[in-house]
Amino acid sequence: MKRVLITGATSGLGRETAIQLARRGWKIAVTGRRAENLAEVAAAVRKAGGEALPLVGSVSDPEEVRRHYDAIKAAWDGLDWAILNAGVGDSENARSFSAANLRWTYEANVFGAAHWLEAVLPDMIAAGSGTVAGVGSLAGIRGLPASGAYSSSKAALHALLESVRVDLKGTGVRVVIVAPGFVKSELTSRNETKMPFLLETSDGVARMLAGIEAGKSFVHFPWQLSLVVLYVLRFLPNRLYDAMTALFPKRKKKPDPNRRP
Ligand SMILES: NC(=O)c1ccc[n+]([C@@H]2O[C@H](COP(=O)([O-])OP(=O)(O)OC[C@H]3O[C@@H](n4cnc5c(N)ncnc54)[C@H](OP(=O)(O)O)[C@@H]3O)[C@@H](O)[C@H]2O)c1
Repeated sequence: MKRVLITGATSGLGRETAIQLARRGWKIAVTGRRAENLAEVAAAVRKAGGEALPLVGSVSDPEEVRRHYDAIKAAWDGLDWAILNAGVGDSENARSFSAANLRWTYEANVFGAAHWLEAVLPDMIAAGSGTVAGVGSLAGIRGLPASGAYSSSKAALHALLESVRVDLKGTGVRVVIVAPGFVKSELTSRNETKMPFLLETSDGVARMLAGIEAGKSFVHFPWQLSLVVLYVLRFLPNRLYDAMTALFPKRKKKPDPNRRP
């Protein structure tokens, strides 16, 4: 029975990942700040056939992450997989740029992953095995309009995980970058603009898990949006990219109701 950590499991991709892995009878540690949601996910995991270890708290707090990892070690003696999924994102046009928005976004999307890397990597390296998958985004491939904080946080996460992957080559520890397009979740439910190739949550998660299990180091989906972002937008010269993004619908997103440090 594999032991897996899923951060940000109180809703969206994280919750669905917990349930899909619970159907295989895995041991699943789930984290998130909303205690009630976490209790509901833990119950759903148990109902689906898994063992649940709910850990309430924020990935942005290194001491809390350390306490959570200690609890996992006490219960299961370590982890086989760590899915670093917790993330936030509000839309903000640079005409009203705020460093506070950037900091809030990085605290979850970048430092949240970093705190968990620091906790789990030494034991995985010592064991000579383990898989760490970080949930980035196709939005991290180029700077999207009204998304400076979110796009740059995901670009930072991708580069961080890539460096970790090459450093850990030969240790037996696998590092996977996951870059989804649009998947139904609380995050995307706040988007008021059209989301091309939007996937059902269960479909997005099934694609993510299939990619991780296939041994890929970069898992991206759906293929239609990957094609546009990875093979067209990524290589466009700035002049063309700027002209093209001016044609994108003006991004509108309701603010995150759970926004807090
Ligand atoms: N849905 C998409 O289309 C899409 C596309 C690309 C990438 N992603 C990425 O996928 C991941 C999951 O997002 P989602 O779409 O499933 O959105 P979601 O439904 O809003 O889920 C986000 C999860 O992250 C948790 N979280 C946020 N800040 C946290 C913190 N400081 N500490 C602990 N947990 C925290 C939330 O839990 P609490 O509020 O309870 O703490 C929640 O469980 C994110 O990294 C997101 O950037 C999503």
